[in-house]
Amino acid sequence: MQQTDRKILCIGLVCLDIINVVDKYPEEDTDSRCLSQRWQRGGNASNSCTILSLLGAPCAFMGSLAPGPVADYIMGDFVRRRVDVSGVAWQQWGETPCACCVVCPSAGTRTVVLSDTNLPDVTEKDFSKLDLSQYKWIHWEGRNAEDQVKMIEQVREYNSKQEKHNKITISVEIEKTREPLYQLFPHGDVVFVSKDVAVHFGFQSAPSALKGLYSRVKKGAVLICAWAEKGADALGPDGVLVHSDAFPPEKLVDTLGAGDTFNASVIYTLARGGTLQEALTFGCQIAGKKCGFHGYDGIVP
Ligand code: ADP
Ligand code: FRU
Repeated sequence: MQQTDRKILCIGLVCLDIINVVDKYPEEDTDSRCLSQRWQRGGNASNSCTILSLLGAPCAFMGSLAPGPVADYIMGDFVRRRVDVSGVAWQQWGETPCACCVVCPSAGTRTVVLSDTNLPDVTEKDFSKLDLSQYKWIHWEGRNAEDQVKMIEQVREYNSKQEKHNKITISVEIEKTREPLYQLFPHGDVVFVSKDVAVHFGFQSAPSALKGLYSRVKKGAVLICAWAEKGADALGPDGVLVHSDAFPPEKLVDTLGAGDTFNASVIYTLARGGTLQEALTFGCQIAGKKCGFHGYDGIVP
């Protein structure tokens, strides 16, 4: 397979997002009408595939689904976006996750309640069935971290037998403040850590979080932290802090999936050989643009 044909694989959540757009965030125990409602394929890894596909990068998704009408909707949308879904792990039991999302443009907020209760995650065994020569980059959204570390070890083993230009780059996202996810820090060539996690560790800004958490990543890795309207920062092995301001849209409309858009745009740039500065700037540009309209279609002209 040609180097240029190799795909970016994103592993993590796919769910159904039922999105209510409201003019004012509702009071608890009231009954109100929304401005509009839509279904959208969601989940961090799944959203990042949407963006990669819109940017024109060959990509693949790996995550769990349970057969049924929700999975049919999700699969139809993956196919429409030309995302390779051959790695989907079909489960015998459990329900496909579903999120109720409230998007409030006047406040610039997105509030999510996710039901993700009983569908088994992708396992090391599922992962071992992949033909790794198809991929140039594999991104893990931190979920079942212990198993994910084992998947990453499989990639390391694969990489040890490859020439430099055929090696797979590994990235991980540590977004939720869950202790087991922190074991992923030393396993990525590129590590995305969220503002939530940074704040949880007691940091008040992206630069202080990067300096404070860098000792957790492996030698030579890049640590990246996005901070909503403050843009994003990154720290690499040379110790130089790289920053991009945010690119706020004229009017804030829909911030759901801004982080997934940022991650995908950064990965897209780095996978094409761009610099860290180029990747951060492009990430903030595309994520900022995304915040200016509903959904994802508007990111490319
Ligand atoms: P999420 O909460 O979806 O994970 P983040 O807050 O981490 O998203 O933001 C990711 C990127 O999206 C930021 O680095 C920024 O470039 C862009 N972004 C998010 N919110 C805004 C905003 N209110 N205005 C402009 N850009 C934003
Ligand atoms: C956005 C998102 C939504 C999903 C939620 C799950 O980042 O992936 O699509 O409902 O987060 O936490």
